[in-house]
Amino acid sequence: MPTSTKLALHVAEDPATLARIAADLLIERCKQSVAERGNFKIALSGGTTPRQLFQLLATPEYEKSLPWEKVLFYWVDERCVDPDHKDSNYRVARDELLHKVAATKFYRMRGELDPAEAANIYESLLRQHFEIAPGELPRFDCILLGMGEDGHTASLFPEEEGINISDRLVIDQHIRTLKSDRLTLTLPVLNNARCCIFLIQGAEKHAVLAKALNLLGTPDLPAQKVKPTNGELIWVVDDAARSGK
Ligand code: 6PG
Repeated sequence: MPTSTKLALHVAEDPATLARIAADLLIERCKQSVAERGNFKIALSGGTTPRQLFQLLATPEYEKSLPWEKVLFYWVDERCVDPDHKDSNYRVARDELLHKVAATKFYRMRGELDPAEAANIYESLLRQHFEIAPGELPRFDCILLGMGEDGHTASLFPEEEGINISDRLVIDQHIRTLKSDRLTLTLPVLNNARCCIFLIQGAEKHAVLAKALNLLGTPDLPAQKVKPTNGELIWVVDDAARSGK
């Protein structure tokens, strides 16, 4: 089967517009996925950028645009903390979106457990939900990603082994630069998605964005290695990240 990656870049004038562009992209893909497969399986990243998107999706204008009962929420990565901890990626999505809309199907990574056990549990959950055999990959309809100033995405960091792991769906890692443990989907899972959407905002991301968007160079940043084998790669950036101002 021929493979291709469809690439798009959206430049939003400000974070509010970035959130609106992202929301509209999600709704479009959700409707298509529900029409074709009966549901929409999306994996969420953490960090600060998605917060405004979650808040927008919870507004009356957008809340009525999505068939929430058909949206299955998963996580791209999670900090190894309790679900109510301030750093929990699940907590941010729960408080800013999931508990404000009629969403009922969300499957968090259990950051409160032993990391290796939590990774195994989530990997089993994905195999069950996507009905895949060993060696097969789940195909998310959409994966929301961010990127750190070091070029990490999900919890796949430069100088850590996780970016090279290809025989697992979910791994646990101790991130030396953060001195903390993380759970994350692996790169093959990201690249098997129908659509990966990067949300990048802030002048501080300009330098890493310039590197990450250099598609002709050798992809040495984790974020640069995200290239859905047969799907869409969409970058939504704000003007501050584009210009560095
Ligand atoms: C996390 C995220 C991580 C995030 C980037 C960007 O758990 O922190 O999954 O990959 O997307 O660090 O974070 P900001 O949106 O806060 O810049």
